[in-house]
Amino acid sequence: MDGQSVPSSEKTKLMSYLDGMLRDDALKGKVILVSGGGTGLGKSMAAYFLTLGAKVVISSRKMDVLDKAAAELKASTNGEVLPLACDIREIEQVHAMLRDAVSHFGQVDIVVNNAAANFISPTERLSANAFHTILDIVLKGTANMTLAVGKYWIEAKLPGVFLNIVTTYAFTGSAYVVPSAAAKAGVLAMTRSLAVEWAKYKIRCNAIAPGPFPTEGAWARLLPGDLATKFDPANKVPLGRVGEHQELANLAAYLVSDFSAYMTGEIITLDGGEWLKGAGQFNGFDAVPGQLWDQMQAIRGKKQ
Ligand code: HXC
Ligand code: NAP
Repeated sequence: MDGQSVPSSEKTKLMSYLDGMLRDDALKGKVILVSGGGTGLGKSMAAYFLTLGAKVVISSRKMDVLDKAAAELKASTNGEVLPLACDIREIEQVHAMLRDAVSHFGQVDIVVNNAAANFISPTERLSANAFHTILDIVLKGTANMTLAVGKYWIEAKLPGVFLNIVTTYAFTGSAYVVPSAAAKAGVLAMTRSLAVEWAKYKIRCNAIAPGPFPTEGAWARLLPGDLATKFDPANKVPLGRVGEHQELANLAAYLVSDFSAYMTGEIITLDGGEWLKGAGQFNGFDAVPGQLWDQMQAIRGKKQ
């Protein structure tokens, strides 16, 4: 039947990237720990995991932010959320959080290493402490989470899934965010390395490299003041827009679910083509007007 012969009242709504992708209960019975789960992308992923039936632990340093987020998430999803304060730079705090999560929910099945810190600055203006602060949160913090939870899964003979949120400049590098780039590159290497080493324990490790997704945390630190208007991130994206949280949550839910059981060691880019646009030698030729292409075609025609 073609679309025109269906009465409009009977037409079903077309689905899009703004909709949840997985079927109901896709994560039922899973306990998922999301670091940095009280804000931004972490909170959006937590919301979708809850919608799909998971129980979720959200953690970060600020208990007031976590409590507020947990109340909102419970109200919007009707799911079970446990907020736990933890500075991932401190291994003892990570152990305590894991203990509390296991004693509350019985076990932890999945970890999303999402917590991070960043600021934009010429590198020569950074103090050693500033550089170390970012390395400590992003690389050492992710290592603490990975070691604590990995050892717990191995000792308890439980399968597990790590999903690490990196960035595209983890593999390209980037000026002005050097500590973050160095730390995220370390997380990327850890993802691929442990995917192989811990596969024998049925532990999978994958990563998402997001392009620009508006969040208060990232925008305030990386595009302060009117920088967001002067350097509108959407202009650098071939697909012409920034990311929507639901499309990142869709990919994350797939990667932590059993539907991706055969996938490990992957770094999946979700950036509308942004990093490739910066890489291809002639990609700037978008700016060449049609008239100039006509001239080039005419020159080529003469030679043939
Ligand atoms: C230069 C800075 C700085 C800045 C702080 N410092 N802010 N240096 N530019 N904007 C220096 C301080 O002077 C100090 O060095 C050192 O860093 C530590 O600062 P503290 O305030 O003591 O650290 P702390 O309280 O631990 O806070 C960490 C933080 C903060 C990184 C500074 O911003 C934070 O908590 N961020 C978490 C959330 C976040 O960053 N989210 C964005 C993730 S977005 P001295 O020498 O003076 O002691 C992301 C996006 C990637 O990763 C890709 C986007 C497209
Ligand atoms: P965000 O809201 O600022 O998230 C960062 C989170 O990390 C916060 O909840 C913060 O909470 C937590 N955190 C920071 N330091 C911590 C520590 N020491 N211990 C525990 N938690 C800590 O920013 P976001 O944009 O959603 O970023 C989420 C992830 O996506 C990050 O890994 C980021 O690098 C990545 N990413 C984002 C974008 C983007 O465009 N937004 C692009 C590429 C990659 P507290 O302050 O309460 O601790």
